[in-house]
Parts: sequence; structure tokens; C-alpha cells
Amino acid sequence: MNKIVFSVAAAAVSAVISQNALAETWRMALGDAQGGTQYAMGEKFAELIHEKTDGQVTVDMFPNGQLGSEQDTVSSASMGLLDLSVLAINNITPFSPTVGVLTLPYVITSPEDAKTLTQGEIGQQLAENTIRDAGVRVLSWAYSGCRVLSNSSKPVATPDDLQGLTIRVPRNEIMIASYQEWGVNPLPMAWSETFTALQQGVVDGQDNPYITINAMKFYEVQDYITDICYVFSLEPLIMSESKFQSLSPDMQEVVLEAGRETTAYSYDYLLESEESIKQALVEEHGMQIIEPANSESEWIERASSIWPRFYDSIGGEERLAEALQALGRDLN
Ligand code: MLT
Repeated sequence: MNKIVFSVAAAAVSAVISQNALAETWRMALGDAQGGTQYAMGEKFAELIHEKTDGQVTVDMFPNGQLGSEQDTVSSASMGLLDLSVLAINNITPFSPTVGVLTLPYVITSPEDAKTLTQGEIGQQLAENTIRDAGVRVLSWAYSGCRVLSNSSKPVATPDDLQGLTIRVPRNEIMIASYQEWGVNPLPMAWSETFTALQQGVVDGQDNPYITINAMKFYEVQDYITDICYVFSLEPLIMSESKFQSLSPDMQEVVLEAGRETTAYSYDYLLESEESIKQALVEEHGMQIIEPANSESEWIERASSIWPRFYDSIGGEERLAEALQALGRDLN
């Protein structure tokens, strides 16, 4: 090889090496299986990041709790051991209690409410609190719909119908208290253990949105769904704050922009898919949907009575008043 050919070849190799030196793979944990809101959001974010970084950043997705329970992934991300996680909001609340204002029963009751709170000032403030309290940054929101109640034993229309059933709940004080007001002691359990517990009859039921029930194939082990809307399931995509701070300012902007675009995509995903999934649960998988008695009034009254118990943890009564006001409602 003459000298000129050799130096051109060396320059090409060194360009490839320096390009590869910039290339990175980020790991994203997902609590749910493929096929639901979480996966759709994760995939969209991964695609946008890859595109916006000209292929320098690849996101590897690990669905179905492969990297630990949803609450474990918050700890891992906080310690910088995990880059990204998609999980349900109720599994962040134990680390950043003010987020609880979004999971108080019957505060958010529609996709529009969810959008108003997460994309408005309140969402911005809560996202700052998760950085401070939990060392994780909310990049994007997915919207999975109302948490409806499923069980394997009987049609449930009133809270009293829950008597005798063992219901799994996330390890979340607000959700535990809601069930206690409905007259039962629920069993707190990690999400990653829930399918097996339902399958083995350790628990009779659980609550999660239609989209999640479908993605997790709960129709294989559950027969009845009560169409309540006590908590609206929000699923943030979080990034380890130490990872975020290690990025250049330009790269941080790319990540934030991809997050914002993913939020818009996720909102449309819910509106486009929820109704057909609900229909498929009935028509293809034989589930029975039960309307709550008396327009859900007893469920609403009993669960909402817990609000004052959580004023301290959410940052004061005024925090809830502010959220309700943003939704055009009054606290009293
Ligand atoms: C839970 O029930 O723990 C979560 O809401 C499940 C989820 O992430 O979909």
C-alpha cells in the first residue's frame, strides 16, 4: 500500500472509531408486556431519539418487568444504574408523595382532565418534585385510561359486592385507603407478581385500565370487569436525573423534545385504541362488563372521603384545590 492510500484508509477508520465512540445504547425498563400504552410510548420515544441523534443513540426496551418491579426501577434510575423506565404514576408516589394529587380517587376522571393536569403548571411542578425527591425526571406522559376493577369470581356493582374478595393493589397508600373505605383490606403487591397471583388464585382481582388488562392478557385469568373510574392511569417515562445531567445541553434539548412529542403521540394512542380494546375484551375474550350501581355514587362518596388524610403528603389541601380548580371544579 502506498503512503497516500494508507493515510486515507487510516483517516476513514479513525472517523468510524470516533463516531462509534459517540454511539450509546440506553436501557429502558417497562412494567407492562408488549401491546399496551407503555410499550407504544417507549417505542415512539426510542424511534424519535434514534432519528434525532442520527442513529447515535439506540434505546433497548425491556418489557414485562424484566429489569425489576416498577418501584425497583425508580430506585435503579435514581442511582444511575438504569437510564429510562416506563411505569404507572402510582409506583412513583411512594418516592415523591406530592405526585399523589394525581392518584387521589376521583380527581382525574377523563383523558381531558389527565391532559390538563399533566401538561399544565401542576404537571410541571410535580415533575420538578420527582427530580428533587426521587432523582428521576419525567420526560413524557402516557395515558392509559381509567383503572377499572377486574375479578374472577362474581359480578361486582357496589362496594359491598367486594366482600369476600381478595384484591391486589399497588404498594400505594392512597389506593389501599380507597379499598378500605369500600370495606375490604386489599393485598399490596408488586405489579410484576400480579399475573401469577391472579393465576394461582392468591388474589381474586385487581384494578387497571382496559388497555393494560388486554396487554397483560388478564382475560386469561379474570372474568368480570366493573367499569369504575376511581383513578386515571398515568404512565410517565422517566429518565435517571444523573444520566440526564451527564448529557450535553444540545442532547438534553433533544431528549426533552422527543419526550414532548411522545406525550402528544400517547394521548392520541389512548383515544384511538381504548374503545376497540374494550370491545375485544368482551367479544373475543368473553369478559363481562358490569356498570357500577347508581352511577357509581357510592364508590365515589366513600373513596373521596379519604382526601383529607393525604393533604399533608400531597403538599396541603390547597394543592388539591388548585388541581380541582384547573379542572373547573371546587374542593367543597
Ligand atoms: C400497577 O398496578 O402497579 C401499575 O399500574 C401497573 C402498570 O404499570 O400498568
